[in-house]
Formats: sequence, C-alpha cells, structure tokens
Amino acid sequence: MMSKIDLTNIPKHIAIIMDGNGRWAKKKGSLRVFGHKSGVKAVKTVTEAAAEIGVKYLTLYAFSTENWNRPDLEVNALMQLLVSTIKKETQTLIKNNIKLDAIGNIQSLPKACQRELKSAMEATKENTGMTLVLALSYSGRWEMLNAFKSLLKEAKEQDLDLDSIEAKDIEKYLMTKNFPDPELLIRTSGEMRISNFLLWQIAYSELYFTDVLWPDFGVDNLYDAIQAYQQRERRFGKTSEQLNKVS
Ligand code: FPP
Repeated sequence: MMSKIDLTNIPKHIAIIMDGNGRWAKKKGSLRVFGHKSGVKAVKTVTEAAAEIGVKYLTLYAFSTENWNRPDLEVNALMQLLVSTIKKETQTLIKNNIKLDAIGNIQSLPKACQRELKSAMEATKENTGMTLVLALSYSGRWEMLNAFKSLLKEAKEQDLDLDSIEAKDIEKYLMTKNFPDPELLIRTSGEMRISNFLLWQIAYSELYFTDVLWPDFGVDNLYDAIQAYQQRERRFGKTSEQLNKVS
C-alpha cells in the first residue's frame, strides 16, 4: 500500500477537515454521536499513519467556532469525547513521539477539556516526531481578526509606519505562527468548501476532496490523497517552463 507514495516527497504539513460523521451514523441508523465516536477511530488511524511516513504537522479541524450552534446534546458529547480521547491517548502519543498542540479559542472550551488538553500538551512537549494540532473552537476569520487587532495595537503603541507592515507581521500573530503552511488540505464527505478553516495559511495548499465519510477514512485513503498531491505541479504563480528549466 505504501509503495504508491513517494516517501521522499511527503507533505510536511497536512490539514484535514474531518466531515461526514453525522451522515455516516445516519446511514447506519445510529445517532450522530456514534458517528463522532467512530470518527475518533479514524483520527487515531490517520495520526499514526501520518507520523509513520514522516509528516511533520497534522492539523485536524475537530470543532469550529460555528459548531457551538449545534444542539447542546451534540456539543456536550463532542466535548466529552475530546476529554476522554485525549486522556486515553496521551500514552499513545508519547509512544509514537507525537507532540500535541492546539489552535482556537481554547478559553471557550469547558474547563475539563482545557485541563486535559494542557496536561497532554505538557506531557508530550519534548516529543520530536510529528506535531498533532487540534483546531478547537477555531475559525480562520476569528484567528485573522485577532491577529489584526494585535497588530493594530502594536502599531498604535509603537507608532509604526503602516506602509512598512508586511505579511510576516500578520503571521506572527496567527495561532499557527510556529508551523509551516500546509502543503495539502484534505476534506472528506464530498463537500467542496473551506468552511472557515486556515484561511490565511492555505493560500498555496493543494486541495483534495474525497467522497469518503470521515469514519471510513483510513490509511489507504490518506495515501491516495498524498499520491494525488505528489502528481500535482506546485507553481506558486510561476509558469511550468520556469519550474522545469534545467539550470
Ligand atoms: C464533522 O462531521 C465532524 C465534526 C464536527 C467533529 C469532528 C470530531 C471528531 C472526529 C471527534 C473528536 C476529535 C478528536 C481529535 C478527538 P459532521 O458532524 O459535520 O457530519 P455531517 O456533515 O455528516 O453531519
């Protein structure tokens, strides 16, 4: 299975919009919460597979700012699932040399969730393999709005010349400031939207959409996405001739 991907050209950072848990459950005649529980299994599989092939950063959209508008029952179940999964899997993260990190409005999460997250981040902070970034109560516009506010504050306090502001001055206030931009963004379940995820960071990412529902997404599907990425020509605004010129 692994032979279909080129191990010398693995994206350093993969971001995933894990979608379709609800539809997966409905198809099985089950409650949405069951879909999320099965989604956790896919999180585990994909995280371990990504670390194994040398991905350095894996960012998972686990809960968006807009997800707070779901019925209380579902929001609570998702938060509980987060707490129990982080607790249960911290040892697996350590075993696999994976460092846990988070982006989003962490203070808005229930206290138990914040506690578990903090303790797992602390326990894995020396790990040097892959960094698993959970996007929790996250949205790209929320993140950019906060970055702009911080930058404006700095500009005002230090009387900065506004014309001297560059993109990197905005980036230093993004929650992803310590991570490179993702080369590959995957969305499952057939929806072709970005849904307020990493808006700034995906400027040049390759987008990969699949009909597979998140709980069904496995190692082979991850390899398919990486294979598709490896067949793309990343031009960053240049022409194909410029890229292929032998110097
Ligand atoms: C989208 O499916 C999925 C979510 C909103 C939550 C994703 C959460 C998990 C996979 C579990 C927790 C994660 C971790 C990292 C422990 P949907 O509910 O929007 O599906 P639908 O579009 O079919 O209704």
